[in-house]
Amino acid sequence: MKFGYFDDSNREYVITTPRTPYPWINYLGTQGFFSLISNTAGGYSFYKDARLRRITRYRYNNVPIDMGGRYFYINDNGTIWNPGWSPVKTELDSYECRHGMGYTIIKGKKNDLSAEVTFFVPQDYDGEVQQVVLKNEGSNEKTFSLFSFAEWCLWDAQDDCTNFQRNFSTGRVEVKDSTIYHKTEYRDRRDHFAFYTVNDTIDGYDTDRDSFIGLYNGFHNPQAVEAGKANNSFADGWSPVASHYKKITLAPGETKTLVFILGYVEMPVDKKFEADGKTINKEKALAMIEQYNTPEKVAAGLAGLKAYWDKLLGILSVDTPDDKVNRMVNIWNQYQCMVTFNLSRSASYFESGIGRGMGFRDSNQDVLGFVHQIPDRARERIIDIASTQFPDGGCYHQYQPLTKKGNADIGGDFSDDPLWLILSVSAYIKETGDWSILDEMVPYDNDMSIAQPMLEHLKVSFYHIVNNLGPHGLPLAMRADWNDCVNLSCFSDTPGESFQTYTNPKFAAEGGYSKIAESVMVATLFTYTGPNYVSILKHLGKDDEAAKAQAEIDKMKKNIMDSAWDGNWFLRAYDANGEKMGSKECEEGQIFIEPQGFAIMSDIDADATKKTLAAIDERLNTKHGLVLNNPAFTKYYIQYGEISTYPGGYKENAGIFTHNNAWIICAAAYAGEGDQAFKYYSEIAPAFTEETSDLHKTEPYVYGQMIGGKDAGADIGQTGKNFGQGKNSWLTGTAAWNMVAISQYILGIAADFDGLRIDPSIPAAWDGLKAKREFRGATYDIKVSNPNHVCKGVKSVTVDGNAIEGNILPAFGDGKTHSVEVVMG
Ligand code: BGC
Ligand code: NOJ
Repeated sequence: MKFGYFDDSNREYVITTPRTPYPWINYLGTQGFFSLISNTAGGYSFYKDARLRRITRYRYNNVPIDMGGRYFYINDNGTIWNPGWSPVKTELDSYECRHGMGYTIIKGKKNDLSAEVTFFVPQDYDGEVQQVVLKNEGSNEKTFSLFSFAEWCLWDAQDDCTNFQRNFSTGRVEVKDSTIYHKTEYRDRRDHFAFYTVNDTIDGYDTDRDSFIGLYNGFHNPQAVEAGKANNSFADGWSPVASHYKKITLAPGETKTLVFILGYVEMPVDKKFEADGKTINKEKALAMIEQYNTPEKVAAGLAGLKAYWDKLLGILSVDTPDDKVNRMVNIWNQYQCMVTFNLSRSASYFESGIGRGMGFRDSNQDVLGFVHQIPDRARERIIDIASTQFPDGGCYHQYQPLTKKGNADIGGDFSDDPLWLILSVSAYIKETGDWSILDEMVPYDNDMSIAQPMLEHLKVSFYHIVNNLGPHGLPLAMRADWNDCVNLSCFSDTPGESFQTYTNPKFAAEGGYSKIAESVMVATLFTYTGPNYVSILKHLGKDDEAAKAQAEIDKMKKNIMDSAWDGNWFLRAYDANGEKMGSKECEEGQIFIEPQGFAIMSDIDADATKKTLAAIDERLNTKHGLVLNNPAFTKYYIQYGEISTYPGGYKENAGIFTHNNAWIICAAAYAGEGDQAFKYYSEIAPAFTEETSDLHKTEPYVYGQMIGGKDAGADIGQTGKNFGQGKNSWLTGTAAWNMVAISQYILGIAADFDGLRIDPSIPAAWDGLKAKREFRGATYDIKVSNPNHVCKGVKSVTVDGNAIEGNILPAFGDGKTHSVEVVMG
């Protein structure tokens, strides 16, 4: 069952009922000011950091769901409704929500009055513009009242929802003309404020929540709206809000357009106040308001945003025999990559914006899907990430985007982290040919006095693995590897102890983690990533160092075959007792997904590749994607940590963890199994799950982190309960990795150090495909034909009519369009 449809020509998903199986959201903003907005206008805004600079308040996990947002209320002679249906939930005569690239349009109609609200954050602007178009579609004059509503968050989102003894006494506002200013703590330590304005006169306002809503009312029945007029209340402590009130009369057919702006302003310390030393200096705010205070300016802002996305999405576009693939690659997957790049795992409807800032591994991987869009921003991000590394190659696992400092409460010792830096830097160089990033001086632990060139950061990353091997010559698993829930040193039997940061006394003396437990996943990630480091060294003419690094990779491959090959697939790990994890010998969790794909792509052993691909298909594949492990754990294995705390079929315990599905898609494609790769791709790609949105639940236009696996419910006698149900949508490494999987491994268009490599691995049934790719200052018009219906293999390549050797297109950098013909066979 569907709840809307794709409108590809407008690059929108059109939701046709407000009762989606879960709130279906969109993101506004790509630079500093961000908003989350659901299909019923729920959500919130923040500046750069959803924890430290939250602008409006939201209530996670609320009853009813999705409470807190920017709400417009209409009181039409006692009939009270919202254009987006919620929170009043009056049945509308019509409803539509269009989520587009950086904007959302919600349109509702009731009793011949229609209200269309367009929400967006213009480029280079720290505010959300909300244009409300009201139209009397009936034949009688209509008089009604309109109320806007936003609830201020007192900036620090964590403090805001915990520290009430202070917060209820600090709230401060100012009201001037039609603008409500939120200035809590502005008098003292903050140099920023927010405002909510409308480009017209108003008939009243409210800034105090209890006056507007009423202590015992809810968002669904604010007493000011019910009364049909505002109180002109002035918040002093408690909960400051912003609501404009306007009485409107419309003749039949008449339209009224109002532009609201929710803005954020930072002020230089010496210019914070007017001469009286306490009134906000509004110069900057007024200039911001001036920028979007007419429908014409709004239209221009929207056009600018569309042009921005046209340009970004024009860098890579494909035309394959499958519309759903085109939709994913040309629109939604790239769009999601921008969002994950911007927000890492910080703020979604499943990530509260408080818990996690930017992840070291997460943000490095996000670069892989985003780098072609705005390489300069990727470069800056890579440097920010590398700046949180330690001189020995270890690193902080997370950092806050506002301060860019590592989070000490989580610390480091996640065994996979450093390797992802090698991958992101390589991806950046492959895309841009800008080798100068390697010379960039990058601090350790944000301390510029001990800065080293980026190349040195890659070296310490590489050798951090080599220097921390266990008894089988495989990398130590440490607190966790890519799988945060494989915690082979935790051994926790006490509720509430963090599986990742708790130090078991057993291992305290040896640095906090077992020197026995080894991760095969990290071993294979090393053999997959390492060759990039070797290529970089060779390019720089550092042949000795390259040979030394290559020898480490070869040694690791040998160690993997000697100690981590289980006969039909690769082991997952050795635990702290020296026992195998992810082996046919285990009672449960006999096979794990994570090491398999990287092992295949490392060309460790051809026979092992075949067997592994077969085992994956047999043991892990389902119609909704590949489960993470099999069989699921049905009891708590203290030596494995968090993974077995999840009921089988969920999350890291045999859920369909879509992120690592992509590694298998890549690997199958790499191994020439285009049909197998495409099968796995289409099992999880959102556009393909749209038809079963009622089961899948989350947005059909973006990936979620997890889909319930085949074991879901098995332990309670309801096998398959929630099998196929999505969770944790939007912020997941799946976005970047599936972009890589489909565009680079399946469609086979991949930036490489020496040019643009074309090596498709597609379904044999396809006749071919077309693509347009901008790459290092030239445009490549690519036509691939597949006359013999093979999955993989390039027989010939011509560029502008001339045959070339091999399948790497040179970087022309001449600003011209080159036509490329590739024949498979
Ligand atoms: C959670 C995992 C999750 C991870 C994200 C863990 O503590 O429980 O399920 O994937 O954190 O970092
Ligand atoms: C989500 C985390 O953001 C990511 O870093 C991790 O690799 C996966 N969970 C798997 O545990």
